[in-house]
Amino acid sequence: MLNMFKKIGLMVIVVMGGISFANASGDSAYETKRHDWPHAGPFGKFDKDALQRGLQVYKEVCSACHSLDMVAFRELTAFGYSVDEVKAFAKEYEFANGFDDEGEEVYRTGLPQDYFPAPFASEVEARESNNGALPPDFSLLGKSREHLSLFTPWNSVYGEDYIVGILTTYHEEAPHGVDLADGMYFNETFTGNQIAMAPPLFDELVEYADGTVATSEQMAQDVATFMYWAAEPKMEERKQMGLKVIIFMSILTIMLYFVNKSVWRNVKKGKDLDV
Ligand code: HEC
Repeated sequence: MLNMFKKIGLMVIVVMGGISFANASGDSAYETKRHDWPHAGPFGKFDKDALQRGLQVYKEVCSACHSLDMVAFRELTAFGYSVDEVKAFAKEYEFANGFDDEGEEVYRTGLPQDYFPAPFASEVEARESNNGALPPDFSLLGKSREHLSLFTPWNSVYGEDYIVGILTTYHEEAPHGVDLADGMYFNETFTGNQIAMAPPLFDELVEYADGTVATSEQMAQDVATFMYWAAEPKMEERKQMGLKVIIFMSILTIMLYFVNKSVWRNVKKGKDLDV
C-alpha cells in the first residue's frame, strides 16, 4: 500500500516537473519581462492613479478596436472617482434607444449603469476592419496568461507582464530570415511572433490628465493595470477576506488548543494515577 502511494507521489512530481519545465522554457525565443506590480502579493492593492491613467489609455486608444463587455461605468468609482464624475464620464457615450415615429433610430446619453459600448457591431465587422483578425474583448484578457504552477511561481508570466510585453516589443523590421505575412507585425511576445495588431502606442500618444509623462512603457503598464482590474475588480476584497479568515482560524486554533487541554486534564490525571 505504502509503495503504491510512493509511486503515485513520484508520478505527480515527474508530471508537475514536466509542466513547470514546459512553462519555464516557453515557446518563444524571447523572454517576457517581469514587473513589480503594486497589486501583486497577498497584501497587494491597486494603484488608483495607474487605474485612472489606464482608463484614459483604453478610452483614447484601445477602445477603437477592443470591447470591454463586462465592465459598467458605475464600477469606475473604484478608481477614486465620485458618483458625479462617473455620471459625467458615462454621458460622453451614446446608446441606441429604439426608434422615433419616422422610424429613425434614437440615441440617449450613457448612464452609470450602462456597460462600455463595443467598437464593432459584430465579429464579422471587427474582422473586416482588422485584416481578418479579431481584437479580443478586454474583460478577461488581463488574467489570461497567469500561470499558477506549483514549481514555477518565480518565473511565470502574469497577464499584466504579457500585455506590457505585447505593447512594447514590436520590431520595426522582422529579423533576418523571418517572412511576415501580409498586414502582420513582428512582436517578441505574441505567440508565433506575428501579430495582426499594428503597434498601438508611441511616446506621448495621450496627454495624461495627471501630468505623468506618457512614454510607451508608462502607458503599457497603466493600461495593463487597468485590464487586470477589469478581469478581477474584486481582488482587494478577496485578499482582505482571505486575511480575515486566516486571522480567525489562527485565533480559533489557539482557543481549541486550550479547550482541548482543559477537557482532557482530568482524564489524563486519572490515567497517571492508575499507572
Ligand atoms: C486598430 C485596432 C486595434 C487597436 C487600436 C488596439 N488593438 Fe489590440 N489587437 C487588435 C487585433 C486585431 C488583435 C488580434 C491580433 C492577432 O490575433 O494577431 C489585437 C490583439 C491584442 C492583444 C493580444 C491578445 C491575445 O490574444 O493574446 C493585446 C494584449 C492587445 N491587443 C492589447 C491592446 C491594447 C492595450 C491596446 C491599446 C493601447 C490595443 N490593443 C489597441 C487590434 C487593435
